Amino acid sequence: MKGQVLLFFLVLFPRFVFGQVSYSIPEEMAKGSLVGYIAQDLGLDVKRLQAGRARIHTGDNVEYIQLNKEKGLLVIKEKVDREALCGQTTPCALHFQIALENPIEIFPVTVVITDINDNAPVFEREERRFEISESAVVGSKFMLEKAIDPDIGLNGLQSYTLKPNDNFILKMNSQSDGGKKVEMILQKSLDREKQEYGSLLLTAVDGGEPQRSGTMQIHITVLDVNDNAPVFTQTVYKAEIKENSVNGTVITKVSASDADKGSNGEVSYVIGNSMRGLSNVFVITEDGHLVLNAPLDYEKVQKYEIYVEAVDRGGLSDSSKVIIDVGDINDNIPVIKIISSSISIGEDSPSGTVVAVMSVNDPDSDVNGKVGCTINKNTPFAITSTSSNFYSIITDSDLDRERASDYNITVTCTDEGVPSLSSSVTLNLQISDVNDNAPVFERSSYEAYIVENNTPGLSVFTVKATDADWNQNARVSYILEDSSVNGVPVSSYVSVSADSGVIHAVRSFDYEQIKDFHFRVRAQDGGSPPLSSNVTVKIMIQDQNDNPPQVLYPVQTGGSLVAEMVPRSADVGYLVTKVVAVDVDSGQNAWLSYKLQKATDRALFEVGLQNGEIRTIRQVTDKDAVKQRLTVIVEDNGQPSRSATVIVNVVVADSFPEVLSEFTELTHDKEYNDNLTFYLVLALAVVSFLFITCLVVIISVKIYRWRQSRILYHSNLPVIPYYPPRYSDTLGTGTLPHVYNYEVCRTTDSRKSDCKFGRAGSQNVLIMDPSSTGTMQRIQSEKSILDEPDSPLEVRINITSQTAQYNLLFSLVFFFSTLESNMYKCIM
Ligand SMILES: *[C@@H]1O[C@H](CO)[C@@H](O)[C@H](O)[C@H]1NC(C)=O
Ligand SMILES: *[C@@H]1O[C@H](CO)[C@@H](O)[C@H](O)[C@H]1NC(C)=O
Ligand SMILES: *[C@@H]1O[C@H](CO)[C@@H](O)[C@H](O)[C@H]1NC(C)=O
Repeated sequence: MKGQVLLFFLVLFPRFVFGQVSYSIPEEMAKGSLVGYIAQDLGLDVKRLQAGRARIHTGDNVEYIQLNKEKGLLVIKEKVDREALCGQTTPCALHFQIALENPIEIFPVTVVITDINDNAPVFEREERRFEISESAVVGSKFMLEKAIDPDIGLNGLQSYTLKPNDNFILKMNSQSDGGKKVEMILQKSLDREKQEYGSLLLTAVDGGEPQRSGTMQIHITVLDVNDNAPVFTQTVYKAEIKENSVNGTVITKVSASDADKGSNGEVSYVIGNSMRGLSNVFVITEDGHLVLNAPLDYEKVQKYEIYVEAVDRGGLSDSSKVIIDVGDINDNIPVIKIISSSISIGEDSPSGTVVAVMSVNDPDSDVNGKVGCTINKNTPFAITSTSSNFYSIITDSDLDRERASDYNITVTCTDEGVPSLSSSVTLNLQISDVNDNAPVFERSSYEAYIVENNTPGLSVFTVKATDADWNQNARVSYILEDSSVNGVPVSSYVSVSADSGVIHAVRSFDYEQIKDFHFRVRAQDGGSPPLSSNVTVKIMIQDQNDNPPQVLYPVQTGGSLVAEMVPRSADVGYLVTKVVAVDVDSGQNAWLSYKLQKATDRALFEVGLQNGEIRTIRQVTDKDAVKQRLTVIVEDNGQPSRSATVIVNVVVADSFPEVLSEFTELTHDKEYNDNLTFYLVLALAVVSFLFITCLVVIISVKIYRWRQSRILYHSNLPVIPYYPPRYSDTLGTGTLPHVYNYEVCRTTDSRKSDCKFGRAGSQNVLIMDPSSTGTMQRIQSEKSILDEPDSPLEVRINITSQTAQYNLLFSLVFFFSTLESNMYKCIM
């Protein structure tokens, strides 16, 4: 249009140069506003205008201006926007013609449109976003959009401002086309860590009045750059963990912070190079938990120092130290090591003897490793600590193998941890034997019985001793102690088996010779030196009925004749005589009873069953024979019983001559009365000589016995039956060895029933038996057979053989030998 107007102007202007009218109006005038008085300015009458049908000719252009013909005015028909009409072209004018007819007249009119500031600068976009790395260097340029202000001149865009302008400044660059380039220049480096987002306001202002402006928001996002290393919260971390902690226990947490963002701020942790061999002990998780990965042992390592590193994705890192103290747990039992120990000690070891030495060790620390040791109670041992960790076991009282032959010594060592741990070891200690115990007999004394007439070699009984010691020290042998019984070594009576303690009789015993005896047996052990003890053994010999009763009165001799006289005047119950018998046995075996076995006249006499008294049982008559013959049997009470018979001659007469006449045939030698005195005198003369002789005999016998005992003592074995020298079988003969006879009497006091006759002051009867060979004599003291005190005492000597003298002699010898025996006993 502009071009058209201009062209139109150029084409027409030379033809219608006159009458040119020009107006200037501001843009944006309201419709109907006056532009100018065209009629007046053209010098035309209004009628002309009307007549000439004046009109505006704009060609094809928009008619902004209207012609008011009635008033001859130009008014705004359409609002004029300069910016729309001309843009940036200046000056901006409307060119049109007013055409008239009749005549045709054409008048060019120019209306210049002037600018008013009706437009503010405007940015195309209201906001603009930038993402700028924080690493952007100072001076970096960022292009900004220009604002547009259609106004021109001063009303057009004049300048820009940017607020706030901490980091950026604006720079305008004139461009070749005359425009201006707006740049934002980084004048101070960005730090995302300080400010990540920023908002700036770009304002464009024009120079109009009033001034108009337009803005644009600039959003800046600072992009992160890995410019920050991770930083640990502590330079040193400390932690403690018990040594018994399980695998996987979290020990501590380390943490490092990284100011960067996103992946640049992502921190991972690693364990750096630490002490040797630690690589597997701990592991660290990605989030910084330090985790136990292997068993700990305080006893090996008490402290760990490890370095941990924190690394971000960009590889920046930091490191820190973690000090881990391992806490002790009482997890080690005390270890007992026996350094040396005795297997056995003697029971005589003194108190304080060292039995064993040991060391005790507990690797734990403090109280967990503090150890005390004890041993079991009730043993004679004590434990002492010689130096730290060393202990010895010593005896603390006397030992006695016989009480306890071995000990199990249990040593228990306990530490002081909570809970405490302990360990123990047991030592077996043998107590070896010392010969400190003598054999002990089972009884304090022994008594044994043996029936007489035993077989030699018979085992009587057994003594037994025990020894509390051991083995050889307890091997007991039995030894017969040397002693003598009745002057004979005891070894000739008994022997003792050394091994078994069995006591054997060496000989056959005769109760009538020996009733009891005692001896000592010693028990000796095999120790060195040996110990021994002894015991008394009493052997009692029991009686057997091996001796028949022996009739002492009346004396029975083959050829002699003894008769009792009974006066014819004797009353009934007259004591004729008394049969006196003894039995050397004892007890029942010596309990005698008397019976009449045969009699000339059974009706005349009786015998007292108990006392042997022969009494008349009726009045003697003249018809009774002078010579009466009674056979009395004496029986003992043994089982079986033994007996002896005696023949008693009784003479029934009134006077001695009568008796003699009756017994003439009995007495062959009448001259003996004449010789009697002579022999008596002779015998008395010999007494003195014999007495001397007896003394010699005593000495001889004594020497003989002594020698015999020596022989027996030396010849221990073999055992041979031993009989006393004067032993003889008295069965039937009624004789006794005088020595033994004496002994019977000597024991009268204790056995009154055996020896009633042994009283002093009684009648002596001397009987000479012509049939005796000289060794069998006897003298007996016996009680008077007469009970009545006024009865005459008779001395009756019967000499019935040719050898009466010798008999008398031997009687005397016997008398003295009795004396000798008496003396001998006293000596013994
Ligand atoms: C536990 O210990 C074993 C080896 O003793 C090991 O293989 C394992 O990884 C450890 N760690 C954890 C957390 O279980
Ligand atoms: C000691 O121990 C051993 C073996 O255990 C046992 O045979 C013995 O009888 C014990 N001794 C004592 C005195 O307890
Ligand atoms: C026998 O034993 C007693 C003590 O029981 C003692 O006194 C005596 O000496 C011993 N005799 C012998 C011969 O050993």
